[in-house]
Amino acid sequence: MINRRDFLHKGALGATALCLSSKTGWTAASNSRSADSRIEVLFDEPLGTISPNIYGHFAENLSGVLYDGIWVGEKSRVPNIDGLRKSLIEHMRKIKASVIRFPGGCFADSYDWRDGIGPAEKRPRRTNFWANAETEKAPSSHRYDPNAVGTNEFVHFCKLIGAEPYLAANVRSLPASAFQQWVEYCNSPAGSTTLADARGAAGYPDPFRVKYWGVGNESWGCGGEFTPQEYAVEFRRYSTWLPQFDDELKLIASGPNTDEWFWTREFLEEVLRKGRGELHRIYGMALHHYAWNLSRGKTQDWDAGKGEAVKFDQVDWYELLREGQRMEGLITGHWQVLSEFDHEHRVKLVVDEWGPWYRPGSEATPGDLLEQMPTLRDAVFSGMTLDIFNRHPEKVAMANCAQLINCLNSLYLAHEDKFVITPVGHVFELYASHQGGEALRTIFSASNLHYDRDGKSAPFWGLSGSASVRDKSLTITAVNPSTNEPRLVEIALRGATAGEATMKFLSNPDIHAHNTFDQRDVVVPQTKALSSTGGVLVVEFPPASVAALNIQLR
Ligand code: AHR
Repeated sequence: MINRRDFLHKGALGATALCLSSKTGWTAASNSRSADSRIEVLFDEPLGTISPNIYGHFAENLSGVLYDGIWVGEKSRVPNIDGLRKSLIEHMRKIKASVIRFPGGCFADSYDWRDGIGPAEKRPRRTNFWANAETEKAPSSHRYDPNAVGTNEFVHFCKLIGAEPYLAANVRSLPASAFQQWVEYCNSPAGSTTLADARGAAGYPDPFRVKYWGVGNESWGCGGEFTPQEYAVEFRRYSTWLPQFDDELKLIASGPNTDEWFWTREFLEEVLRKGRGELHRIYGMALHHYAWNLSRGKTQDWDAGKGEAVKFDQVDWYELLREGQRMEGLITGHWQVLSEFDHEHRVKLVVDEWGPWYRPGSEATPGDLLEQMPTLRDAVFSGMTLDIFNRHPEKVAMANCAQLINCLNSLYLAHEDKFVITPVGHVFELYASHQGGEALRTIFSASNLHYDRDGKSAPFWGLSGSASVRDKSLTITAVNPSTNEPRLVEIALRGATAGEATMKFLSNPDIHAHNTFDQRDVVVPQTKALSSTGGVLVVEFPPASVAALNIQLR
């Protein structure tokens, strides 16, 4: 039996419901049915500000993510900006992409940043961390890293989008000095040091001001097979006397895999052995959770437990959502462990890898390692996960969907001049207005659904979501997980009055629906008139849907 560690080693009605004046302009829809569910938004129960960084991304130098996905080269016939795929940059601007993590993942702990600076033609080719797992069909750039994209190109990509870079340092195979010098290369004032000069010579005299730095990645596995105690010692060493320059560095410690509570606890115990002041070094604790085991409890084997990305059964739809729903318990659980050591909760959670992970076979571009075809199921999964993050704004400082393009839960697929926005990409568009909003406690009341799980009836919640308010604009997002039943939902605002409102949603009669290079508009946002009956807002959420309601407040 193999687990992920082995794999990586190898390569939530009444009379006071929402009242609407006839001046709102809302279109009354015909509803002979009465509502079966309710959403109540509690304006006097704010939860905290939703960090825009919850809507972050992850771009590892892995197979087709970087080369062919992000980078096409300056001389390419594919429309590009300084070698970077233009269509990708344009859509990432549209969704207000906030932060992008690079260069890994496992790749990070084998990467020497010094290989990726200086004139392109003089940069060395290196064997990629993932080389051994690549298939015969993979192009050379996937196996042997040409280093065409280094720190300059990646930070430029982020700046073109308006996103913050989040760099992951190599703890497994480079000394602490290399990390310090990478920080110096990125952030030292123009003309101050030899490395600042090297940055200037590349056309970037002004400091990059990179704030977010990961100290290793999955240090319990591909990042060095450390025990939490060993990694804590390394964390202290790598984080001591880092150059600060103008910016406060925000260091993210390599954190637990899913529910490995021991890692969080023992890491903090050891770090704090030198005193409580050590807490000030840690901005965030990383947390990784992939929904991969669709075996319904039959195996924990990393390969055997996985399911199909596209050709799945109805039970697999619900099982995937069940695996993803674990995220809420992971957030509250690790937060609880953090509270044992950090009473003021200075240290936040950074969920810098999340998403479904299926078995190979659905790649849009044959040969792309870990690439999978995102379907409507993944859109619903992603909406559900983003809603979980929105419900815990005081705990989750950042989250990065794994991964951006041509990989696991990708927002985009691309190959040469072909480019398509996946259903997951459209979810980020629907949810963008939550960024920087004040999260509000919101009660989702709906009866459970039931599905057949190996001859037994399994329950699953019937409606879930989140709400936030910003600048007199309320965003409610919600997921209807039922594959076949719509939800007719009455919406009540406690403490505010609604004006104009719109709803956008993703759904399709086929739960396997997805967008391809040839059919790019199978799952795209649809706009639906909101219904108002007797002054109450009633909205129908179609089966298998993820939806965003934007309501202007008066
Ligand atoms: O996202 C793919 C891999 O999954 C990352 O490289 C690693 O950090 C995780 O195990």
